[in-house]
Order: sequence, then structure tokens, then C-alpha cells
Amino acid sequence: MNACIRAITRTAVYRDLHVVGYRYGYHGLIAGDCRPLEGRSVSNIIQRGGTILGSSRCEEFETEEGRRKATERLRGSNVDALLVIGGEGSMKGARDLARQWDGQIIGIPGTIDNDLGGTDWTIGFFTALDTALDSIDKIRDTAEAFDRVFLVEVMGRLAGDIALGVGIAGGAEEILIPETPVDIEGVARRVREAKGRGKLSYIIVVAEGFCKGGAIEVAKRLTEITSFTCTPCVLGHTQRGGSPAAYDRILGTRLGVHAVEAALDGATGVMVGQIDGEIALTRFEDLGRKRRAIDPAYWQKINEILRR
Ligand code: F6P
Repeated sequence: MNACIRAITRTAVYRDLHVVGYRYGYHGLIAGDCRPLEGRSVSNIIQRGGTILGSSRCEEFETEEGRRKATERLRGSNVDALLVIGGEGSMKGARDLARQWDGQIIGIPGTIDNDLGGTDWTIGFFTALDTALDSIDKIRDTAEAFDRVFLVEVMGRLAGDIALGVGIAGGAEEILIPETPVDIEGVARRVREAKGRGKLSYIIVVAEGFCKGGAIEVAKRLTEITSFTCTPCVLGHTQRGGSPAAYDRILGTRLGVHAVEAALDGATGVMVGQIDGEIALTRFEDLGRKRRAIDPAYWQKINEILRR
């Protein structure tokens, strides 16, 4: 996100515009908590994880009253355009605000989950992949040395993109995601067969949204069925931090520049994304309907062929 904040700020400065950054997103907007951003304010941040502005889940903004307060703040501060970086909740908030505030609102996709329509990739996804992959590679060493089954839980409440990404890149034997129903008896059978063929490590990547209880629950059931030691490992919030991957910095930069340009062109009520390498503007209302770049059926099939 910092690469994006930097790009927005410097493009705006280049275009003789004034920028303020709201702290903790919609929280800051409701409270009027913001700081001016200039070229120098965003120096030396492109390599930093997190966001210099802070982030939050703002329940108040989900209410009419919260959005009314935000609208008053925006009017009182003579804001012409609001740029919102975030995931599904942030885009819904932006859509709802656009119905009552007459300024321009442009969304920019930022979530590790990569679960938004209107863009192939969301800012943060590639960094989360690298972080989770690094852990899976390390877990593979223990799994191999101890002849064990490991269940590694990655983030993704509603989407299996992180799990599919690291599952393929890490050579996982199974990838359990919310989009694909899987029969645990079938997984148990494949574990037994693989062990029978002399396979030492067996890594099952589990998206947190796959089932209630996630990897811990699946590990318990698999241990019961197979009587092999099936060890769960929940990677959790490690995936949300760290120095951003090169592609996240490039994506954040590109989307930030185009968000400012889109605002100058008069756009509003849209999210700026990247589809097939091209910049694409999608109406907030249409975000849920757009195709997603990672096709679970396609990658699961490839994984079935490769797990031997
Ligand atoms: O929405 C993005 C996400 O990374 C999810 O994958 C994960 O469930 C969630 O955030 C964790 O958020 P929190 O720290 O608010 O529980």
C-alpha cells in the first residue's frame, strides 16, 4: 500500500493538487483525522510493509450515521476526490458513500486475498504469496526429515487464491480451498497411497475459509482416519506484513498513478484495476460480477497431474 500512497501523492503533486491522507482509513474520515501529504512525506516508504497511514476495519462506516459524518467531513474540508485503497469491505463502503456524497470516489484494490473482481491482481497478494511460500519451503524440510504430513493454513476467508498460489509454487500435494468441495476420506486415501509409495513429506495447503476450524480441524480428522501424525501449522498474520514483493510495488505504483489520472479525467464510482495487463475501470456495482484471474478448477487439475 505504501507504494500506492507514494504514487498517488507524487502524481498529485506533479499535477499541482493538494493531498491529505486519512489515518486508519474510514475511521480517520469520520473523525477528521488526516495529515497533509507532500512529495517528501512519502520518501523512503516504497520498501516498507503495512501502511504509513494505518488501516482498520471501521464498523461505524457501515452505518448510515457513520457515512453521514464522513460526508460532512468531506464537504467541510472541500475535498474534490477521495481515493480508497482496500478490499471488498472498503469497496462496498466507497460504493455506499458515492450514493450520498457528490465528490468523486475512486477505489484501488488492496488486499492479500486477491478476491476482488475488476482486477487480475490486488496489491499485497504477491507479498503474501512469497511470505507463505518461504514458510512452506521450510516446513517441507521438517516434513521430509520426519516423514510427516503437514497441514499449512494460509489466509483467505472467501477465496482460495493464496492457497492455490502457494500450493502450486510450493509443490503441495493437496490444496483445500472454499471454492472446491473436497472429501476428506479421499484425501486420507491419497495420503496412505503416497506413504505406501515411499513418499516422505506430504504438504496440504488449507485456505482458512475451507472449513470451520481450518487446518487444525482437518489435521485432527486426518490423524483419526489415517493414524499418521498430521501436524497443523497456521501461518496467520505473518502473511500480512514484511517488505513488499517487487510486483506489489509495481502494481501499487501503477494503480496509484492511474487513480489520480482517472480522477482528473472526471471518473467516479469506479475501481481502478489491471486486467490482462491493461488498466481497467470497473463500476463499484459490478465488482462482484467480474471474472477473477485465478481459475480454481484449472489449477486444481494441474495439481492433480503433478502430485506424484
Ligand atoms: O481480508 C483479508 C484478510 O487477510 C483475510 O484473509 C483474513 O481472514 C483477515 O484479513 C484477517 O483480518 P483480521 O486481522 O482483521 O482478523
